[in-house]
Parts: sequence; C-alpha cells; structure tokens
Amino acid sequence: MGVKQFLRACALASLGAVALSKPINTHRRAAFFEAQKLADPAYGPIPGESAIFNTNWGKAPTWPGNLTDPILPTKKGPPGVDDQVWQNLLAAEWIIFSFYQQAVEIFNESSFIAAGMPNTTYQRVKEIRNNEAGHLRIFQNQISETSVKPGACKYNFPYHDPVSFLALATVLEISSMAFLTGLVQQVKLDHAKGAMMSIAETEARHEVWQLMDIWKVNPLGGPSDTVFPYANEVLGSTGNLMVPGSCPKENPEYPSPSQHLPALGASKNTKSLAPGATIDLTFTDPKNQPKFVPGKQYYAVFFHGLANATVPIETCDWPKKSISVTIPAKFEEKGVIATVIADTPGAPKKETIVAGPGIILEQPEPLGVKLL
Ligand SMILES: *[C@@H]1O[C@H](CO)[C@@H](O)[C@H](O)[C@H]1NC(C)=O
Ligand SMILES: *[C@@H]1O[C@H](CO)[C@@H](O)[C@H](O)[C@H]1NC(C)=O
Ligand SMILES: *[C@@H]1O[C@H](CO)[C@@H](O)[C@H](O)[C@H]1NC(C)=O
Ligand SMILES: *[C@@H]1O[C@H](CO)[C@@H](O)[C@H](O)[C@H]1NC(C)=O
Repeated sequence: MGVKQFLRACALASLGAVALSKPINTHRRAAFFEAQKLADPAYGPIPGESAIFNTNWGKAPTWPGNLTDPILPTKKGPPGVDDQVWQNLLAAEWIIFSFYQQAVEIFNESSFIAAGMPNTTYQRVKEIRNNEAGHLRIFQNQISETSVKPGACKYNFPYHDPVSFLALATVLEISSMAFLTGLVQQVKLDHAKGAMMSIAETEARHEVWQLMDIWKVNPLGGPSDTVFPYANEVLGSTGNLMVPGSCPKENPEYPSPSQHLPALGASKNTKSLAPGATIDLTFTDPKNQPKFVPGKQYYAVFFHGLANATVPIETCDWPKKSISVTIPAKFEEKGVIATVIADTPGAPKKETIVAGPGIILEQPEPLGVKLL
C-alpha cells in the first residue's frame, strides 16, 4: 500500500488499537513516593541541561516518564494563575509521551527499515520521546506547589504498524502546534506564553523532520501555521485515546473546563480532504451526537492560517440524510485546517460551537485525517 492510500486508510478507518504497556503495578507504593519527589523543581535532571532529554537510547521510559503517579500539592493555598492551563497541558503531554514511549517499546531499528524508512528513524523516534519526557518535566515545574500535577492514564492509540504509527505522529505533532496557538491565549503570565511558544516550536521541528525524512515532501507549511483559539476543544477531542476510568483519581477533570462536544469526522468513503473537496460529515461517538434545533441555521467553520471561513450547512434532514459540506477552495493545501460546527458564522465564542473540532491534515497528503 502506498503512503497515499495508507494515509487515507489511517485517516478514515478505525484501525486496531494497540494497548499501552501496563504501568508498573508492583512497587506501586515506592513509585508513588518517588513521584512525590518531583514536587521539587530542582530534583533530578533539568531539561535544557541534561542529555537524557535528547540522547537516552534505552527502551525503558525516559525519566520522569517512568514516574506515572500524580504529584500531590505540598502547600495549601490558592492555585497559581495559570495552573489549570498547565494541568491541561501536562495531562495532554502524558498522551504524547506515552504514544512515543509505546512505539519505542514495540518497534526496533529493523521495524522502520523494513517499512522502507531511513535507518535513523528509530533513533529519531527515541529522541522525540526524550524531548516529550522533557516536556513532562517542564510542565510539572510550571504548576505551582498548591495544585496537583496530573499523572498518566492508560491509552489506546489507533495504529497497527510502523507506517501507521508515523502517520499518526505527523497528525499529533501538527495538531499540537495548532492547539498551542490557542492555549497560549489562555495563560496570564508572560513567561508562560514564551514557554508555550518554545514548546510549539519544538513540535514544529518534529513535524518538519517527519515531512522531510519520512514522507519526503516539501516541509514548508506556508507563511503561518493554523491558529485555533479554543484549545480545550482540541483536548476534548483526544478523549477517544484514553481508556475510560484509567486516570488517577487525584487528576483534575481533563480537560477542564470541558464542553463535552460531539466528535467530528469525515465519512469513511471520503476521497479527498483537499480544499475544494465536498465531504460528508460524521459524528464519530455514537454516545455523543449533536442536537440541532429545528429551523435554526448551522455552519461549518474552517480555520486555516490566521483566518477562518464559514459555510452554511443543512441539518434539518440529519441523521436521515448526511450533512455535506465543501472545504473552502481558497485555502492552500498546507498544514492543517481545523473544522467545527457552530451556530454563528465565524464561531466568535466557544459557546457557539456545537461539534468538533476535526483536524484535517493537508500535508503530506490532502487526504486525511480527522483522527483526534
Ligand atoms: C525511574 O528512572 C530513574 C532514572 O532512570 C531511576 O533511577 C528510577 O529508579 C526509576 N524509577 C522507577 C519507579 O521506575
Ligand atoms: C526487531 O524486532 C524483530 C521482531 O520482533 C526481531 O525479529 C528483530 O530481531 C529485532 N531486531 C533488532 C535489531 O533488535
Ligand atoms: C544508513 O543509511 C545511509 C544512507 O542511506 C547509509 O549511508 C548508511 O551507511 C546507513 N547506516 C547504517 C548503519 O546502515
Ligand atoms: C473568524 O473570522 C471572523 C471574521 O474575520 C471573526 O470575526 C471571528 O472572530 C473569527 N473567529 C475566531 C474564532 O477567531
């Protein structure tokens, strides 16, 4: 199967999920106490100084990814102004770290070479895994001592081989770039904004490596990547990756606050997700379907670059007849297009959104991918 066909399959079919290796159950108490030491920001290797966040070539989780327990507050008092945002980001980072860690455990050098990928791929995957462990530590340290620092849950990732893993990695990296453009609008402290931007830049480097070395396409993504202002909605759409009930009970709700929006995707027979293509929308969680008020006008709002474009949709015959919509042809085939269903053109407030977001990947192929 070519990359193009594969990405389509990855985007639009539900692939067999692989279970993440079990968190350590023996020595649970000892591990819990070890995790509490992380409350001290000066404890252990420091990102930006220690080589483990780059060149740990082992299969075992890079520290502090091996300490999956939540870190409890060490002081009483009001939370720091940006604690909730960082808690959301740390909980999301456990998903990304676990995604790469799982691949490091399942695959080896030969797996990627056999799949036709460069012989450096496995090492790069490990290096990204190490960067992500550094993010865990950076985010833990941004949360103040009066708030809990979320621990890891269990996850299911929809990939089944090295190529589908890499396709999902490409989607997750660029989605996190778009997501951080929204998250940075939620924090109050200037240094927090700078820190978030530096993380988005790191994810962009991961993405560029994949576009160049793995997919062998032009890595440039146009003059700007996509800004999507409602970061918690992107996090809300990652819920299908988490095993229900698997999160530590001390973790705050993820994300908080959450709108519990219905997930949005494109129907299985979708041929193209390029600008100008007409697609049928699907709401992929049978337990969470949208409620459209009869007679009310709804819109698909597409975000690309710094702009958005609104297309009215017909909902009165749904679900008997599917809702079809044309992706605005004016957008370039670069980066991603984030899509929501809203009751107001331009979705100017998060409350106007009734479903989504769906993330449409345009690079390396304008074929795919809702996914999140
Ligand atoms: C976590 O990793 C560190 C560094 O490799 C190691 O010293 C520690 O024993 C590990 N702890 C657990 C609970 O795995
Ligand atoms: C990689 O894993 C495969 C399948 O598990 C195994 O046959 C092979 O020997 C491994 N290669 C290396 C270099 O470890
Ligand atoms: C890896 O691939 C490069 C370029 O294809 C080649 O020059 C190099 O010898 C390979 N290295 C190994 C260890 O196979
Ligand atoms: C979408 O664009 C319109 C028109 O420029 C703007 O009024 C609206 O605020 C934008 N929506 C968001 C969420 O930025």
